[in-house]
Amino acid sequence: MKIRFASVVLMSVLAPAGFGEIRYLAARKLWRLEAGPVSYIIGVNEKNELQSIYWGRRLWRDDDLAAAHTNSEWASFDNYGNTTPQEYPGWGGGRYIEPCLKVTLADGVRDLVLHYVSYNIEGETLRIEMKDISYDLGVTLEYRVFPESGIIRKTATVHNRTRAPMTLESAQSGAWNLPRGEGYRLTYLSGRWAGEWQINREAIHPGMKVIESRRGNTSHQANPWFAIDADGRADEQTGRVWFGALGWSGSWRLSIEQTSHQQVRVTGGFNPFDFGYVLEPGQSLETPPFYAGYTEGGFGEASRILHRFERVNIMPGGATARLRPVLYNSWEATEFAVSEEGQKALADKAARLGVERFVMDDGWFGARNNDRAGLGDWTVNAQKFPHGLGPLIDHVNHLGMDFGLWVEPEMVNPDSNLYRQHPDWAMHFPDRPRTQERNQLVLNMAREDVKNYIFETLDRLLTENPKIAFLKWDMNRNFTEPGWPEAPAAQQKELWVAYTRNVYDIIDRLRAKHPKLEIESCSGGGGRVDLGILQRTEEVWTSDNTDAFDRLRIQEGFSLAYTPKAMMAWVTDVPNFNGRSTPLAYRFLVAMMGSLGIGGNLNRWSESDMDLASRMVELYKSIRATVQQGRLFRLFSPRDSGFTANEYVSEDGGQAVLFAFRSAQDFGYPPPAVRLSGLDEQAVYRVKTIDHKLAGVTETVSGAYLMNRGVDLRLGGDFDSTAVAFERQ
Ligand code: GLA
Repeated sequence: MKIRFASVVLMSVLAPAGFGEIRYLAARKLWRLEAGPVSYIIGVNEKNELQSIYWGRRLWRDDDLAAAHTNSEWASFDNYGNTTPQEYPGWGGGRYIEPCLKVTLADGVRDLVLHYVSYNIEGETLRIEMKDISYDLGVTLEYRVFPESGIIRKTATVHNRTRAPMTLESAQSGAWNLPRGEGYRLTYLSGRWAGEWQINREAIHPGMKVIESRRGNTSHQANPWFAIDADGRADEQTGRVWFGALGWSGSWRLSIEQTSHQQVRVTGGFNPFDFGYVLEPGQSLETPPFYAGYTEGGFGEASRILHRFERVNIMPGGATARLRPVLYNSWEATEFAVSEEGQKALADKAARLGVERFVMDDGWFGARNNDRAGLGDWTVNAQKFPHGLGPLIDHVNHLGMDFGLWVEPEMVNPDSNLYRQHPDWAMHFPDRPRTQERNQLVLNMAREDVKNYIFETLDRLLTENPKIAFLKWDMNRNFTEPGWPEAPAAQQKELWVAYTRNVYDIIDRLRAKHPKLEIESCSGGGGRVDLGILQRTEEVWTSDNTDAFDRLRIQEGFSLAYTPKAMMAWVTDVPNFNGRSTPLAYRFLVAMMGSLGIGGNLNRWSESDMDLASRMVELYKSIRATVQQGRLFRLFSPRDSGFTANEYVSEDGGQAVLFAFRSAQDFGYPPPAVRLSGLDEQAVYRVKTIDHKLAGVTETVSGAYLMNRGVDLRLGGDFDSTAVAFERQ
C-alpha cells in the first residue's frame, strides 16, 4: 500500500506547473482558480462587486476571457443584481435572489452591499476582502483549490469592525453559479431513521428547492450534499455533473435556485432558520467549508472524486491512514444486558472469526439497564463490571483484538446523577416543558462549563483505560426547546453554531491528547454524516437498519457522496426488523462492500455459520484495500431491478472486485451479463471466485473481454449473491 500512496504523492509533485494554481489577471480584474481539470473564474465588475464568471472544464487561454460586466436591468423589477451572477451577495441593494449574508445593524439598517477591497494569493489559497459600501462590515472569502480532484473549498468570514454589535440573520459559505440556462436536474439524499440515504432526482425549475436540517445535527432526513447534471442526461458513466457538500454537523441549508433569469445557483451554509448570531465589535464568524467539484464522467465519477478527496484531504491521517479493521459490535446481540462474562464470551467467538476490534455498545455505565436511565453518568457499572473495564479489555487484547466502547456524551437521562446535579445543563426554555426523545434530553454543549465537563469526563475515561482504542460516539435525538437561558437574550440563538463548534472542539482535543484513538460518528444510524464530522472521525455508522436487502439501497445512496471506507456495515441476525431472512453469505457480501463489521449474536451462530463467517472475513481482508480505497463503479442499481452489481478497482489497477446480488428472480430469466469498468483492456486478469458462480470464464481473462462482453453469473432464486476478484497478471 505504501508504494501506491507514494506514487500518488509523487504524481502531484511532478505534475506540470500550473496544474493547480490561482492567478489574477490584473488588466481584466479576473481570478483564475485552476483546480486540476476544473477552472473557476471570478471577476470584479464595473460596480466593484464580485461576479461569478465560469465553473466547469479547465480553460487554457487568458485572452478568451473578458472582464466581468454586469447585465442590464430587466425593466424596473429586476435590477442588475438579479440579472448578473453574484458571487457572494449581501441582502440589499435590490437583490431578491437568495443572499449569502443578511444582517441587522445596531441602528436598524438592514441593507448590505458588499464591494471588493483587496485580494491575496498564497499557494493554492485565494482570499478576497470585501466591505459594505458604508459600514465597517468586512467579509473575507477564502477559496482553496485541490488540484488532484478538481474540488474547490469556499468559506466566508464576517468581521464586525464597527463600534456596535450587529446581528447576522443568514451567513452562508458561498454560492455556486452554474452556466446560465435551463434543463438542469438535481440529485439529493433524503430519509428518516432506519431509512437514510434515499436517492431523489428531479428537474430544476424556476423557484427554489431547499434541503436542510433544522434539527441541530446533520440529520437522517436530508444530507448536505447535492449533484446537478446538465440537460438531465447524466448517468453513472457519462454526463456533466456539478456536485458539492458542506462540512457542517449542525443545522445547515442548501438552497437550489433557478432565478427568473435562468440562473441556477446553489447557496449553502448555516441554516438561517432561527439563526441570529450577534457579532460584537471586533468579533468575526467563520462559516462552514463548502466543497464543490465538476466532472464529465457522470454520477459515478462525481462519487469517485469525492471518495478519494474525503480519504486524502478530509479524513484523519489522510492518504496514509490505515485500513479499517474488521469490527464486532455487541449491540444487536445483547442490547443493554452487557456483563464482563457475557462480553468475554462474545469476544472469544469474534476472535475465532478473525475480528480485529471488539466494541462494547450501550449499557456498560451508570444505571444503564434500559434507555430510561444512566446517560450522563460515564462511570463503569459496578454490578456488570465489578473490576472495572480492565479485565474485559485485557481479555480482548489477549485475543489479538483492540477494544472499543460506545458513548453518547451529548445526552442526559433525567434519571441520572448528572441531571439531578445539573438540571440546567440540558437545553431548555425556563418554565416550559422539556421534550424527551428516547427518554433523554440534550445537554447544552454551547455552554463552556458543559463542554469542559464532557471533555474532562471522556479524557478521564480514556486516561484510566488507556487501551480503549476506539469510541463509537452516538447522538440519539435532535434538539428541541433550544434555549440557553444563561446567555443574554439576544445571543441565545448562537447555540446552533456554538453547540457544533464545541462538539468539534471536544473531539479535536481528545484526539490531540489520545493520538491513537479512533472514532465512529453515529447518530441513531446515519444522522451525523458530513464532511465536518468526517474530518474528525475514521468511520460512520451508516444506518440502524441492518437488513441486507434494504442496505443495498442505503449503501448506494451513501456511496453517491461518501467513501465506502467510512461506511460501517454489520452482518446481523435474521429475521431482522423487516421480518426478512436472507442467507448469511448474502449478508456478508453486502456488508463487505464497505467497512466490515459483525453485529449478530455469535452465541446463536452454528458451527457452519462460524465456518462461513471465518472464510468471509479472510476473503474480506484480501480485498479490503480495494473496497476501502479503490474506485467504485455502480454497475447495476438496486433501485432498477432485483439485480445489483458493484465493482471496486484498486487505485493501482492491480485488483478488481465484483459483488453481485440477485435479490429477486422473475420469470426464470438469468441475470444480465455484467460488463466491468475501469480495467485495462490489454491486461490479463486471473479470476478468483469464492463460490464458482461465474459461468464460462476460465482461469484468466482479458480486460477487453470483461469490459465489452462481460461475465455471466449463475445467480438464481431470491437473495443469491457472489463476489469475484480479478487480479492483474
Ligand atoms: C443507536 C445506535 C445503535 C446503538 C444504540 C444504543 O441507536 O445507532 O447502533 O448503539 O444507539 O443505544
